[in-house]
Amino acid sequence: ESPEVLVFGSAIIDFICYTPRLPKAGETLHGHKFQTGFGGKGANQCVAAARLGSHTALIAKLGDDSFGQDYLRQLRAEYVNVEHVQPLPNQTTGIAQIAVSDEGENNIIIVVGANNALNASDVTAAAQFFDQAKVLVCQLETPIEATLHALRQFKGISIVNAAPALEETPGELLQLSTILCVNETEAALMTGMQSINSVGEANAAVERLIEMGANGVIITLGKLGAVCGTKQTQCEHVPAPHVPPEKVVDTTGAGDAFIGALAHNLARYPKEALTVHIAAACQVASKSVQLPGTQASFPFGGDL
Ligand code: RIB
Ligand code: NA
Repeated sequence: ESPEVLVFGSAIIDFICYTPRLPKAGETLHGHKFQTGFGGKGANQCVAAARLGSHTALIAKLGDDSFGQDYLRQLRAEYVNVEHVQPLPNQTTGIAQIAVSDEGENNIIIVVGANNALNASDVTAAAQFFDQAKVLVCQLETPIEATLHALRQFKGISIVNAAPALEETPGELLQLSTILCVNETEAALMTGMQSINSVGEANAAVERLIEMGANGVIITLGKLGAVCGTKQTQCEHVPAPHVPPEKVVDTTGAGDAFIGALAHNLARYPKEALTVHIAAACQVASKSVQLPGTQASFPFGGDL
């Protein structure tokens, strides 16, 4: 079947250390649990949409190592179309080293390896998917030139998750996306704002990003939910469902759960208001923070 949601982006194996608190520079800490997981923002977003019931396809690069083989098998098990997911000879699968504190906070280092080989010819090779899909989703863990090319070719609704964020975001990236979606930290970096700690500051950042060329903007704010605005509409705040602090076990990938859900709903119900899609996506993200891991914590359609 032809994909409704097409993801052009990253696939990474997560190495997750659960620890009482995040380490300081130069410090060694005893963690209490280690786990590997299937991650990478692209694959995470794709699996989140697939679990909600979208027909999805991923365009991504893996290494020719055991991680790559495991990942392909996993994506198939999630019913993701992997025709354009390639294990590359002499390349290593991307990895992420993640620390998660007892408070559910994390920090992450990524070494993207094979993901760096994603390029414009991969867009051409998957031209049929680009014609068929309703929603395209991209991130910044793979080379930006290829992402820009993918966005130029696509005529449907595009979601750009500008993560990890750049200090100097090319204007074209903003102009080519239907919706730019970032978290508060990424929005602060992109706009040069000191920090974003409130709905009011987030609204200001939305306006700034629209001035910088974006058509529509969503800034996710963790437990505060999200704000959105477009060239045509005023900023609006959508609160997230309350999750008691003791139930928050791992926020890693919550933003990806949000974006996957957003893509799924935009593909299925294109006429519905953006705020309605955001409320649904907040629900999915708030489920994901209550279970450990990234993809492993994403809810299935029936769960909501
Ligand atoms: O957004 C979470 C993801 O970021 C993790 O799965 C990790 O792979 C990093 O890419
Ligand atoms: Na989680």
